Amino acid sequence: MVSLEDPISIGPVALDNRLYRAPLLECAANDPDAADILQRHLEPAAATGTGLIFQGACLVTAEGGRTAPGLTRVHDDSFVAGLEPAVEAIQDHGAQLFCQIGHGALQSMELWHTGYREAHPDLTTYAIDDPPWWLRALWHTPILHRPDLEVMSEHRLATLAERFGEAAGRLYEAGYDGIHLAGANASIFQQLWSPVFNGRSDAYGGDSIDERSRFLREVVTAIRDHTEPGFPVTTKIPCESEAPGVARQALDEQDTVQIAKACQAAGIDAVVPVRVGATRDQSVARGRFPDIAWNDDRFQSDYDDVFGSSWRKRLIRGLNRLAAKAIEPEPAWNADLCKRVREAVDVPVLCEGGIRERSQMDQLLAEGACDAVGMARPFYAEPRIAHRILHEAGARVLCESCNNCTIPQIAGADGVCRTPTIMAQRGEYAKQGRYDEPDGD
Ligand SMILES: Cc1cc2nc3c(=O)[nH]c(=O)nc-3n(C[C@H](O)[C@H](O)[C@H](O)COP(=O)(O)O)c2cc1C
Repeated sequence: MVSLEDPISIGPVALDNRLYRAPLLECAANDPDAADILQRHLEPAAATGTGLIFQGACLVTAEGGRTAPGLTRVHDDSFVAGLEPAVEAIQDHGAQLFCQIGHGALQSMELWHTGYREAHPDLTTYAIDDPPWWLRALWHTPILHRPDLEVMSEHRLATLAERFGEAAGRLYEAGYDGIHLAGANASIFQQLWSPVFNGRSDAYGGDSIDERSRFLREVVTAIRDHTEPGFPVTTKIPCESEAPGVARQALDEQDTVQIAKACQAAGIDAVVPVRVGATRDQSVARGRFPDIAWNDDRFQSDYDDVFGSSWRKRLIRGLNRLAAKAIEPEPAWNADLCKRVREAVDVPVLCEGGIRERSQMDQLLAEGACDAVGMARPFYAEPRIAHRILHEAGARVLCESCNNCTIPQIAGADGVCRTPTIMAQRGEYAKQGRYDEPDGD
């Protein structure tokens, strides 16, 4: 029977075990201290035995496409080369480090972030097609801003695919072990796969998933062109089963299976199937309404910058409360989807989303639902959680999916857990030595 401690390979890259840290925003931006920030975020996971670490989303272009404040751009040779010490420090512990790269296209932050929009008045938002009517309708409400929109030409999409390849080349040179594509969470890949957004009749459109996978194939080819053979490429893949009524024509489970097959045919080395909305919403990271975060005095002036007015802030806060109620955080909510995908492809299938207990991980692996299991928010709550998961009988993480980590991030705050009860408990566990080897490793 497969166990969490068993090794596994992704392409030619061997992982020591099957526990991974799912991508989370490190908010390192393009700060001169980015390497230190990344190391501070990722090294504790590596030092405590996490087999695979996905660095959070990074942008492949110099401008636009930004989905959150603080997102790192990997368009610049010298900036990416400067990350090398962090990469080495993380790898020294035996972990494999993959960097996630992406582009937000129509879901970029100028649609919701008032301050960012005002600071970038000339920003063009590149969409892959004319937006659906309900999204355009939202631009006439205070919920979203109306972007200055341009539908990407075939040439622009082909050029963007090349930017992905160039970014991968820089990351390869900096020593990263692989690439993770931001294929879901309403990114450009999801927009191209989704009939909600892609009604194109040219080479990037079509009725079948295979036709709508052209951009993915071009990205993989570009990555291969800029890296050495075998450099692994993985991706998240979306299932839009949570799309609201107006977006009914969404990607269903069968489409996700087709996407997985298209990924495998394109040479992708592992897939991470996730249930998400057609637009950016709470279905990605399900959990409680983050009351503490909304009321936190430290972030109120930053929230004012994001929302532009207190009544818009109240409106978005109310919608956040409704979404938290509407979207149930079932344990391991992507497990059945992963299992279905795994039956259809030969590449490893990675499962994340609401996985919180060691016994759950063992069960998912034993049932054949996936080949590796990941967690995201628990690594904010306990950056050294891997030690407990790998060594403590019956381990359960402290993270309660309260989502207090999520809201400050829209205002550019650091990606950390700030929930007082969890912080206190983590301190207790640290005093008890529950994150370390007995010799203090
Ligand atoms: C604050 C935050 C930031 C995230 N950043 C990313 C990201 O950069 N890229 C990505 O693919 N997913 C991102 N995710 C989604 C996670 O990788 C993960 O799929 C999700 O949180 C569910 O896993 P969990 O229940 O273990 O947290 C983020 C989630 C949260 C809460």
